Amino acid sequence: MLDAGERKLVAAALAAREHAHAPWSRFKVGAAARFGTRIVQGCNIEFDVYGLTNCAERTAIFAAFAGGFAHAPLTAIAVIADTDEPVCPCGACRQVMFECGGPDLRVILANLRGDVSIVRMRDLLPGGFRLGRQAPRKPPSRARKTRA
Ligand code: THU
Repeated sequence: MLDAGERKLVAAALAAREHAHAPWSRFKVGAAARFGTRIVQGCNIEFDVYGLTNCAERTAIFAAFAGGFAHAPLTAIAVIADTDEPVCPCGACRQVMFECGGPDLRVILANLRGDVSIVRMRDLLPGGFRLGRQAPRKPPSRARKTRA
């Protein structure tokens, strides 16, 4: 059973799916990510050069960065598509979701029939890759000005 916040997230993902640009696959996907109290939506976007396609989950997360909301913790993300079973995120999106939300992130997988499955990120991507983030990286030293 979904709680009210999770239902809201799925509804936001469903609404975002309407904006999907999928002229090649015709497979429309919507996503909605909760960063702190904000919900940021995304849809899949396809291009004539197929490899440039961006999935709905990553579109939502990238939009959060672009909008300045990604400093807040990513606690949940919903994704929805017209599939027999609740839709399953691709490997690239799993990595991005893992890096942003960590192993405890709640991932709500849904389809248009109302089937829903809630999983933890650690189950979608066990042992996901992360660079050490203990200490902030030093900015590169500035190039010295040389006299003409
Ligand atoms: N797609 C997503 O947006 N999210 C997923 O989780 C799976 C796949 C998109 C990419 C492409 O536009 C279309 O679905 C077919 O692969």
